[in-house]
Amino acid sequence: MNKYVIFWILLVCLAFSDRRLRQTGTPSTTTPRPPKPYLFSQGCPSDLLHSRALRSIHLACENHSSTVISAFEGIQEGLKHCTNRLRFQQWDCSEAGNIMHDPPLLRSGYRESALIWALSSASAAWGVATACAQGWIDDCACNNQNEYEFGGCTHGVQHGITASRKLLTKIGPASNNLLRRIEKHNLKAGRLAIKKTLISSCKCHGVSGSCQQKTCWKRTAQLEHITDYLVEKYTKAKVYSESSSAKTTDLIYLESSPDICKEKSVGGRVCAWRNETHTQGNCDKLCCGNGFSIRHEVVRVKCDCEFVWCCNLICKDCIQHRWISTCNSTPIDKNLIF
Ligand SMILES: *[C@@H]1O[C@H](CO)[C@@H](O)[C@H](O)[C@H]1NC(C)=O
Ligand SMILES: *[C@@H]1O[C@H](CO)[C@@H](O)[C@H](O)[C@H]1NC(C)=O
Repeated sequence: MNKYVIFWILLVCLAFSDRRLRQTGTPSTTTPRPPKPYLFSQGCPSDLLHSRALRSIHLACENHSSTVISAFEGIQEGLKHCTNRLRFQQWDCSEAGNIMHDPPLLRSGYRESALIWALSSASAAWGVATACAQGWIDDCACNNQNEYEFGGCTHGVQHGITASRKLLTKIGPASNNLLRRIEKHNLKAGRLAIKKTLISSCKCHGVSGSCQQKTCWKRTAQLEHITDYLVEKYTKAKVYSESSSAKTTDLIYLESSPDICKEKSVGGRVCAWRNETHTQGNCDKLCCGNGFSIRHEVVRVKCDCEFVWCCNLICKDCIQHRWISTCNSTPIDKNLIF
């Protein structure tokens, strides 16, 4: 009797710690799938239904709304990662807008437009592939519990890439319009970024460690990683020319970007950050020479966390110092300083 009680307590503990691990991304074999988000049951929101820029989206909303929604959400997520990644650069993705809303940036052929095309195309594919792997999309045959448990779904990756191409490629010939050709190239570079960053894994089955049977699968990398990959391509983007040596994975652009210092105010932007050990950012460049001010913050954070059997995470409270630099909104009038 006693033995059974201990067994059940252990089992409950294991289930608990398993759920914790699951949340931090470690694959597990016992977790049920998360339920389909409410968002998916509502069909396309009206801004997408009436998308005039991309007829393909308007059409797909009719019978494949889950695919459109997961692509849209993927793009939003990609833009967030991009904003975070470029937070100390003059241009930081934050005002780019979602490609499905036909933002003004994508009517030009700047280096920044190239990144947004590629990032949108990659994160749309990522969003659809991820939703497939969760079993949230009916028309992708990825609802195989086996694949789900291994944390991958090879079929879903392909479905995502195809969906991204179909949704974001403008219908009609593009050959006579240079900007459209640049757009097409960069959208493809985004889809290739998904392929270049894929994670392949295999799992052995068989008696205790033997590998009599092997299951292999592919899954998309973390979107953060894909974003980093594309930001790297963005810094090395090539200007278009007839005899250009750009590869299909390279980003290409048509015209040089406008000078942000002349276009808009950078006042109030955080241009650098440091604590006792780390520093990031460059205010001289970002603030367009207008100067900046530094603010000191003290923050309380959880630290030295320890996992105590069974099933608690015990942390200490620590104090950290941060110095945050913010751009001035107008140049300091030099005549006023004596
Ligand atoms: C959506 O599905 C219906 C019924 O299967 C079909 O008649 C219609 O043509 C489909 N619409 C699109 C845009 O594919
Ligand atoms: C400073 O910030 C870095 C990056 O967030 C962090 O890893 C590090 O622990 C911080 N150091 C201190 C002393 O707070």
